[in-house]
Amino acid sequence: MKCVDAGIDGLVVEGSEGGGFKNPEDVSTLVLLQAIRAKVDVPLIAAGGICDGRGMAAAFALGAEAIQMGTRFVSCAESPVHDNFKNAIVSSKETGTWMLNTKSTPCIRALKSERTSVIHEQGIMSFDDMKGILNVYFKGDMEAAPALAGQSAGLIDSVKTAKDIIEDTVAEFFEISARMGAKAQSQSF
Ligand SMILES: Cc1cc2nc3c(=O)[nH]c(=O)nc-3n(C[C@H](O)[C@H](O)[C@H](O)COP(=O)(O)O)c2cc1C
Repeated sequence: MKCVDAGIDGLVVEGSEGGGFKNPEDVSTLVLLQAIRAKVDVPLIAAGGICDGRGMAAAFALGAEAIQMGTRFVSCAESPVHDNFKNAIVSSKETGTWMLNTKSTPCIRALKSERTSVIHEQGIMSFDDMKGILNVYFKGDMEAAPALAGQSAGLIDSVKTAKDIIEDTVAEFFEISARMGAKAQSQSF
């Protein structure tokens, strides 16, 4: 609300499903988008848990005008991260991430690994735990630091080019919107 009062052009609204730095008071994208849409008129970019046209259609139904995808593009063909990171996302289930460090800062969502399981058990993360992040990204050492990723890792089952991701997402969005539009036209569901 402070941003809107200050005259900001739009907001990225990211729920707790998303990868990376998070609000420890977790609210899902499903609820957060609706809560913010009800309060503001500025354009909303939905993020967190979205990796395809199905998620895009859901986000638009909840009041967003655009979407942002992190985990999906970290694992795309052109992404500069090591194949081990991309493969860890592709092979992850929707339960394959932890929300870590919820009692301190930064609170993050990262892939499950031996290292992040220990942090999860301890409930607290040292900033030193993040020091090896470049070795995760570019050397593929998945235990060097928490590998930031969201729950959508469980929906991603292949490495695709950025072009295919965008084209498939838009095509699926229009297909779903058309189906929902037809139901609205015929007043059936
Ligand atoms: C590996 C990784 C690194 C990220 N780094 C940042 C960052 O430095 N700053 C930031 O604002 N968001 C960062 N994010 C969050 C993304 O910008 C995006 O909002 C988020 O991933 C959306 O959720 P999704 O992962 O479910 O698509 C990062 C996400 C990932 C997966």
